[in-house]
Amino acid sequence: MDLVNEILNIVLPPLVFLSLFLLSPLLIFFNLLRRVQGFRNAEDVAGKVVIITGASSGIGEELAYEYARRGARITLVARREDRLRAVAEKSRQLGSPDVVVIYGDVSVVEDCKRFVQETINHFGQLDHLVNNAGIVDLKMFEDYSNISEAAARVMNTNFWGSVHATHFAIPHLKRTNGKIAVVSSIAGWSSPPYLSIYGASKAAMINFYETLRIEIGPEIGITIVTPGLIKTEIVNPELLGAMRGLAFFPAMSAGRCARGIVDGVCRRQRFVTEPSWFGVSFWVKTLCPDLMDMFYRFILSPRPKRD
Ligand SMILES: NC(=O)c1ccc[n+]([C@@H]2O[C@H](COP(=O)([O-])OP(=O)(O)OC[C@H]3O[C@@H](n4cnc5c(N)ncnc54)[C@H](OP(=O)(O)O)[C@@H]3O)[C@@H](O)[C@H]2O)c1
Ligand SMILES: *[C@@H]1O[C@H](CO)[C@@H](O)[C@H](O)[C@H]1NC(C)=O
Repeated sequence: MDLVNEILNIVLPPLVFLSLFLLSPLLIFFNLLRRVQGFRNAEDVAGKVVIITGASSGIGEELAYEYARRGARITLVARREDRLRAVAEKSRQLGSPDVVVIYGDVSVVEDCKRFVQETINHFGQLDHLVNNAGIVDLKMFEDYSNISEAAARVMNTNFWGSVHATHFAIPHLKRTNGKIAVVSSIAGWSSPPYLSIYGASKAAMINFYETLRIEIGPEIGITIVTPGLIKTEIVNPELLGAMRGLAFFPAMSAGRCARGIVDGVCRRQRFVTEPSWFGVSFWVKTLCPDLMDMFYRFILSPRPKRD
């Protein structure tokens, strides 16, 4: 068996590389075809039922307005009651026929079960689940004093919050051939400093939903969203102070980002990156990882010297 592996070690990489190279025009063609097909068969969400988590501010709030303009019926989930009520009111004004507000914490399993169940009780169906709720934890890894507490908080919200809601929603989404959108981050593939735990939670999301797409892909559409820099409460002075280079990046408005997300979900895109030019970081990271490291270490967040 070892001999077989030795032979494969030598023969397989060049063979696969050459085949992919020769097949690349065909692969690109099929990819384009799928994009065009997605564009032409884009879902009309008027009257459809959508759950949006983290809808009280930022991208989630704008997602609510975007779905509302398209006539969807919406369940809004978050912890801040006053903010959520205001978002619900504006969503109704923008054209949503029915908006339900559910206060809940996605890091609590029972809450995830409850907001899915209450949505079904009220609307009788579920078409889209948008896992958007998320928190950032900004720290150099060495500076954590209570690592278990910090890591659990971020993972329980970003990763487990999405996984649990997804678990309870799947039986209902299967009935409608529905869709799941999940808001990860480019930090999920590009490893920026100060965001080790956050980036790990976002990477876990990407991997989990890629696996889920293979398991239930044909029945339920899965779109993984990887935003770059979006103007929301997450991008606060603390973040800009740590990653000083960020200030030079043009942040996209949350409204424009939300439009891109809903378009991508309705077109059954596998990935949506907003703004899309941030996608080049994927190629840089894959093809020249050292360059990516240098960019983060020296340009984006030069570490202050300590004595
Ligand atoms: N802004 C960016 O540049 C950027 C870049 C990449 C990825 N993202 C991702 O985009 C998503 C939305 O973030 P944002 O930028 O729009 O920031 P934001 O304005 O802070 O929104 C975060 C939302 O998540 C909700 N949330 C947080 N913890 C929750 C919990 N335990 N249970 C329920 N809801 C919770 C918040 O509502 P309550 O506090 O009321 O619960 C809020 O509505 C996040 O997943 C974030 O990681 C943002
Ligand atoms: C860390 O935080 C958790 C939860 O708040 C607590 O139970 C634990 O005792 C803390 N550990 C240390 C070492 O402070």
